[in-house]
Amino acid sequence: MFASFRSIGAYVPSDIRTNQWFIDRMETTDEWIVKRTGINERRIASDIQTTSDLGVEASKIAIERSGIDKNEIDLVLCATISPDYMCMPSTACIIADKLEINDVMAFDISAACTGFIYALSIAKAFIESGMKKNVLIVGAEKLSSIVDYTDRTTCMLFGDGAGAAIISATTNKDEAIIDVRCSADGSQKDLLLTPGVGSGEKQFMQMKGNETFKVAVRTLTSDVVKILENNQMTNDDIDLFIPHQANYRIIKAVGDALDFKDEQKVLTVDKYGNTSSASIPMAINDCYESGRLKSGDTILLDAFGGGLTWGSALVKFASK
Ligand code: UT7
Repeated sequence: MFASFRSIGAYVPSDIRTNQWFIDRMETTDEWIVKRTGINERRIASDIQTTSDLGVEASKIAIERSGIDKNEIDLVLCATISPDYMCMPSTACIIADKLEINDVMAFDISAACTGFIYALSIAKAFIESGMKKNVLIVGAEKLSSIVDYTDRTTCMLFGDGAGAAIISATTNKDEAIIDVRCSADGSQKDLLLTPGVGSGEKQFMQMKGNETFKVAVRTLTSDVVKILENNQMTNDDIDLFIPHQANYRIIKAVGDALDFKDEQKVLTVDKYGNTSSASIPMAINDCYESGRLKSGDTILLDAFGGGLTWGSALVKFASK
């Protein structure tokens, strides 16, 4: 049995936060933000919208596009670092409940910006082992709830949003997910962390931006080299290179080092900022909705985040 990437969906809140919002509140400029990050705007969830609400909207679209009945879903995974509840219940449980998908296995994945690729890997393994047939994977974030808006070095980076996909069993090898790689290194945990729970400063994300930047470029690049080599593939076999959307300069540095052409590189960070685990599925969805991504295309996903975690995936897009 093989696992196929059957459909994609995404949802972003309607509230657009431009760079002017930050300029009005702290010592910064549009020029600095655009030059250092490539970000022009991000979406911000309302006070009453939760991470699961965003995930549910994205999931409804992915389910509809998959053509399966929601009751055929037998596993729900949610990658998030901004869950509805701190430890329990998981956001995956809440999403399954809101979608009225009952009696399924559901759990969260904590792998920061690499979360969607971790979820893809788990879905693939469950399907290939024959244990599950249709897996809903969600990357959903309300990062505005864990961003310290007094820290001008990080707060302008992040936004809210969600993406979701249906991964299904297939006997057709031509439409199978080719490979997924996932890694972690806890010794570098201090680069990106959320120190504590509850109220006060400890609930906010902290990042050593400049150090993280350098490790991100190195790791994202070497991981792509490995996954292509392992599968005897080259850049020419890739239709779209869809990296985690952390910073335009990171994407450019990685894309250039790997020699990808502009038409292969996908960039959405300008309009959504960094949405952690949601950024890759949101970017896939953007390509799908704009007609840039078609059934049968081969996409290369590449992510890096807190943990540290990183991963890449070679995926045949099997959406009808
Ligand atoms: O998604 C998970 C992984 N995350 C990432 O990969 C993010 C990685 N990091 C980054 O994207 C970048 O490091 C940042 C965008 C966060 C920062 O860019 P940078 O080029 O690394 O800047 P920096 O931290 O080295 O700061 C450069 C200067 C400093 O001033 P001095 O010391 O050179 O005088 C900062 O104080 O920019 C100053 N600065 C600002 N100036 C205007 C820092 N924040 C701001 C600001 N506006 N908002």
